[in-house]
Amino acid sequence: MIPRIYIPGDSGALALGAEKVAKAVRAELAERGIEAKIVRNGSRGAYFLEPMVEVATANGRVAYGPVKPSDVKSLFDCGFLTGGHHKRWLGAPDKIPFLAKQTRLTFARCGVTDPLSLDHYKAHGGLNGLQNAVAMTPADIVKQVTESGLRGRGGAGFPTGIKWKTVLDTSAARKYIVCNADEGDSGTFADRMIMEGDPFVLIEGMAIAGIATGATKGFIYIRSEYPHAVAAMQKAVEIARKAGVLGVNVLGSANSFDMEVRIGAGAYVCGEETALLDSLEGKRGQVRAKPPLPAHKGLFGKPTVINNVISLASVPVIMDKGAAFYKDFGMGRSRGTIPIQIAGNVKYPGLYEAAFGMTLGEIVDDIGGGTATGRPVKAVQVGGPLGAYFPRALFDTPFDYEAFAAKDGLIGHAGIVVFDDSADMLKQARFAMEFCAIESCGKCTPCRIGSTRGVEVLDRLAQNIEPEKQIALVTDLCNTMKFGSLCALGGFTPYPVMSALNHFPDDFRPTPVAEAAE
Ligand SMILES: Cc1cc2nc3c(=O)[nH]c(=O)nc-3n(C[C@H](O)[C@H](O)[C@H](O)COP(=O)(O)O)c2cc1C
Ligand code: SF4
Repeated sequence: MIPRIYIPGDSGALALGAEKVAKAVRAELAERGIEAKIVRNGSRGAYFLEPMVEVATANGRVAYGPVKPSDVKSLFDCGFLTGGHHKRWLGAPDKIPFLAKQTRLTFARCGVTDPLSLDHYKAHGGLNGLQNAVAMTPADIVKQVTESGLRGRGGAGFPTGIKWKTVLDTSAARKYIVCNADEGDSGTFADRMIMEGDPFVLIEGMAIAGIATGATKGFIYIRSEYPHAVAAMQKAVEIARKAGVLGVNVLGSANSFDMEVRIGAGAYVCGEETALLDSLEGKRGQVRAKPPLPAHKGLFGKPTVINNVISLASVPVIMDKGAAFYKDFGMGRSRGTIPIQIAGNVKYPGLYEAAFGMTLGEIVDDIGGGTATGRPVKAVQVGGPLGAYFPRALFDTPFDYEAFAAKDGLIGHAGIVVFDDSADMLKQARFAMEFCAIESCGKCTPCRIGSTRGVEVLDRLAQNIEPEKQIALVTDLCNTMKFGSLCALGGFTPYPVMSALNHFPDDFRPTPVAEAAE
């Protein structure tokens, strides 16, 4: 059997030099006259070990990382094709502590399989969920997804089954499934990892959604900053179509479902579902007033399911193993697993899929290993640019939608960004207001005007001009934005601003210049 070498083609691994490593491995193979198959797999998500190269040996896979091109010659000298020891040797990938402790349901295949091999996908449990779905009634599929407790992973945590039921119950000649792959939140990369590392699972999830709701056409709206994900999805859709997974007879059944990839133009607000629909329709991406809900009148005015990549990619395992299996993980009303993306100033950045319920402290300190700089953690922003900053005092908060809401925070798309004690929280609050001003779609006044005024107020505060007055003003402004904005861009910007102000008040009362000089 010819040796098999896995070198990630994932964008994160590529950014860390995976392509150069692949080139060096190819050159070394040629020079030594060794025949081997190089598989460009996805990443397993332990980015501090990327580029992580694996070889398939008689005793299972053996990993090496982080591999530099200059390591390649010595890797061959050490017999890495049979798992030989080397300074980059990591052993069996699933025994690496960061990976061993995870519960991988949605990401079970990511980094393991060849992303574009349908045979590999099937050999690892792929298509079992769709196979079950084609033998069921739409109502039963919806029931199973509802009973699993799956909630939208895009940010709002809305129950996926209820959304699907609304579309199923709305009669129309045409319905759509739209996958939101705009992934604009800071520190998030789960959608990208799935699309690059296991694209068929998203296709399978969308096909199930189509069969469950009576939709025959799907669109994946991917941000333009993800060219590798776009390429992987386009190729995977083609392969799935040729294999009869998509098309007029899905898996040989009477169900018809097909899809195509569309590319966004780079606006954060186009991740908001109704702005996304406008953008998909070829218009400027602007938020629509609700009602009507997209489930009633969505894309081109037709009933539409809009779900995040991870929501859809979690459906196949539910349809394969059952609602009870999935629901068994988690806590409270947060069921199943959540792929937590650990980023920012952190020692072990990466994707960590686990059942809901770990505390923020466990995630930051135990899994993330604290800061990369070695300085104390000051704050953690959870849930993207509209998420609250959590101080260490709140690190006992469990990762659960309701627990985070109770602390004036949100889980969002489950991205966490770590800051050390050198962070200036007044600057972070200003950044949130400025981000909102730049990204605002301009439709409503509290967001369009409020965010610009917010920047001005925080600038005056930084200059120590009547600080107490500015604090009262920004608090009032945040209240107006929170309750008066049409969508969550303006409505949630107060979360980072007010959490920074409430948890780090000292940063908002800069020492007067004269006093500092004394
Ligand atoms: C400003 C803004 C940006 C958003 N960006 C995204 C995004 O990039 N991806 C996403 O899935 N949801 C995003 N959302 C949430 C979507 O509006 C919507 O709730 C989600 O796509 C629904 O899918 P889900 O139920 O599977 O989470 C955003 C919302 C707002 C207000
Ligand atoms: S809150 Fe901002 S982004 Fe949302 S509709 Fe209003 S102006 Fe547009």
